[in-house]
Amino acid sequence: MTLGTARNTVGTRAGLLGPLALAGLAARARASGALDIAIGTPPGQPPRAAVTAAADAMLAGRNQYADPAGVPELRAAVAGRLLASSGVGVDPETEITITAGATEGLLVALLTVTDPGDEVVVVEPAFELYRGAVELAGCTRVPAPLDPSGWRLDPERIASVLTPRTAALIVNTPHNPTGRVFTAEELGGLLDLCERRGVTCVVDEVYADFVFDGGPHVSALGFPRHRPRVVVVGSLSKADEMSGWRLGYCVADPALTTALRHVHERTTFGAAVPLQHGAAVLARAGSGPEQFRNGRDEMVRRLAAMGFEVTTPEGGWFLLAGTRRLGLRSDALAEGLLVRAGVLVAPATPFFADTGEGQRWIRTTFVKDLATLTKALDAMESFLAEPDGGVWA
Ligand SMILES: Cc1ncc(COP(=O)(O)O)c(C=O)c1O
Repeated sequence: MTLGTARNTVGTRAGLLGPLALAGLAARARASGALDIAIGTPPGQPPRAAVTAAADAMLAGRNQYADPAGVPELRAAVAGRLLASSGVGVDPETEITITAGATEGLLVALLTVTDPGDEVVVVEPAFELYRGAVELAGCTRVPAPLDPSGWRLDPERIASVLTPRTAALIVNTPHNPTGRVFTAEELGGLLDLCERRGVTCVVDEVYADFVFDGGPHVSALGFPRHRPRVVVVGSLSKADEMSGWRLGYCVADPALTTALRHVHERTTFGAAVPLQHGAAVLARAGSGPEQFRNGRDEMVRRLAAMGFEVTTPEGGWFLLAGTRRLGLRSDALAEGLLVRAGVLVAPATPFFADTGEGQRWIRTTFVKDLATLTKALDAMESFLAEPDGGVWA
C-alpha cells in the first residue's frame, strides 16, 4: 500500500530557480576565448597588505570559529570607511554584521524583514540575484520600474505598486546595470514613502566607492530618521578587488541588527575568519572610479556612435545600451556578437521582469583595460556594419 504521493527530490522553490542567466553565455565565451565586456570582475588583485595579513592570520592559528557578527577589527574598519565615505557614524559593535559577500547580506536582510507570502518590491532594472533571494525567502517579487528616460527614481511610480502585503523594497545605488547614482532627493523621497507605508528598505550600496565626476554617493544611512527601516548592504568585492574572498556586510540599527545576526548565524555562522583579519588592515578602499573613467567615456562614445541609446553612467561598473534604434533584440544580438564577433555582452532580460523590456537593452561593463575595451568595441562595430547584421533581429 502506498502512503501519500512520492515527493520530488528537489523542492519547488529550488527547482524554479534555474541557473543564473549569464552563466551559459559566459562559459561559451570562456571556451571560445571571446572578449568579455559583460561581467564585472575586478581587474586587479587585493592590496598586498591584506593578502599578507590573511596569510599571517592563518599561520598565527586564527582558523577557528569566531564571533559570527564578524571579527571586531573588520567591523571597526568598515565603520571607519563609512564615516570617511558618507560622513555617517555607525557603531561597529551593534550595527555592523560581516557576511559572506553582499550576496549573503541581501539574503539575510530579506529573510530578516519578510515573512513567506509577503511582497517585495524590486526597483527595476535590477541586479539578477535579487530575484532568487526574494524567491528563496518565499516572497513574491513586484517590479517597480525606474523612468527609462534617464533612469530616474520616481517615488510616485513606486508608490503605485505598494500594497498592504509589501514588506520590503530593494534598491541599488550606484546602480547596476544603469550606472545611475540616485540623488538625495530621489533616495530621500523613496525612504519617506517606505516610512509612510511601513516598508523596510534594503539598499545595496556595493558600488559606493565608484561615483564619477566628483559626485557624491548618497547613502541611505545618511537619513537618520529612516534608520530603523533601512538595511544597507555593502561589499569588499569591488573597491578592494577581493570578490573571491566573499566578504560583505549589513548595516542596520541595533534592533534590526540583533535579528539580522540571528539569521546570519543560521545561514553561514560567519564569513571566513582569516580573510576577515586580512581585510581588516585596509583602512581605506583599495580602488576608486579614476582608473575606469576613460573606459567609461570611450564605451559611451563608441556605443552611441554605433546607434545604441546610452545614458552616461554616473557611477558603478556598467551601462545599459538600448537596441531599439538598431532594430535588434538583445538576446539575438548577444548571440550574434558571441558567435560572429567574439565579444560577450549581457542581454538585459535577467534585469527586467518583462522579457520584452529586457530585449531592448544590453548590459556592458567598462571595468576592463582600455586595450580590451577598444578591441571589443571595434569587433562590435564591424559586426554591426555587416550587411546581414540585422539577420539576428
Ligand atoms: C549590485 C550588486 N549587488 C551585489 C553584488 C554581489 O556582491 P558580493 O560579491 O559582495 O556578493 C554584486 C556583484 O556583482 C552587484 O553587482
